Amino acid sequence: MSGGRFVTLEGIEGAGKSTIAKFALAWLTRRGIPGRLTREPGGTPLAERVRQIVLERGAETLSPVAETLLMFAARELHLKNVIRPALERGEWVICDRFTDATRAYQGSGRGVDAQLIETLAAAVHPDLAPDCTLLLDLPVPLGLGRARAREAGAADRFEAETVAFFERVRAGYLELARRDPQRFQVLDAAAPLAAVEERVERALEALA
Ligand code: TMP
Repeated sequence: MSGGRFVTLEGIEGAGKSTIAKFALAWLTRRGIPGRLTREPGGTPLAERVRQIVLERGAETLSPVAETLLMFAARELHLKNVIRPALERGEWVICDRFTDATRAYQGSGRGVDAQLIETLAAAVHPDLAPDCTLLLDLPVPLGLGRARAREAGAADRFEAETVAFFERVRAGYLELARRDPQRFQVLDAAAPLAAVEERVERALEALA
């Protein structure tokens, strides 16, 4: 039996995913469990180049469907070259965003057809879903306030989006969690960090 576990982190901008990702990795290290931290879009050299394309605010408009296809192109590279090999070696993979981000951002946020997203998901990872998804949930104004305070440079294509867009993304995530309560843990990301970390620790314990 493979000892690998696939844990994904989701949430809107400013939810604190990077902090929690590092906390999860430190927890694995303390437990002597082999693990790795990775992210989407990205995680391989080519997928990081796709990340640049989807984040940069260039002159050429990126349509919602093109954006969706690029997310899945990056995901295919990431699964083949990083995620699957790590899981096969028995490692735990902590992934900062995965297909739920496409469902929430491109589906709920941009209005891309949910059926198209599920068709692409079925083509790219027919046999793989996260063992656990930690959804860091918080009110949009709080998340955007945190994200904007942290960013030194100009906002990327997503950070430049409207509050209404992020409200749709947040609602989309909460609906995904409502439909799949076995896989999702919804964490109150507005709570003190220690309380969030305690919930994360409990979720990881339950998987170990
Ligand atoms: P990050 O803020 O977690 O680094 O992610 C970069 C952006 O990419 C973030 O604004 C959400 C967006 N994104 C999507 O829109 N769809 C996806 O499938 C993924 C993985 C990310």
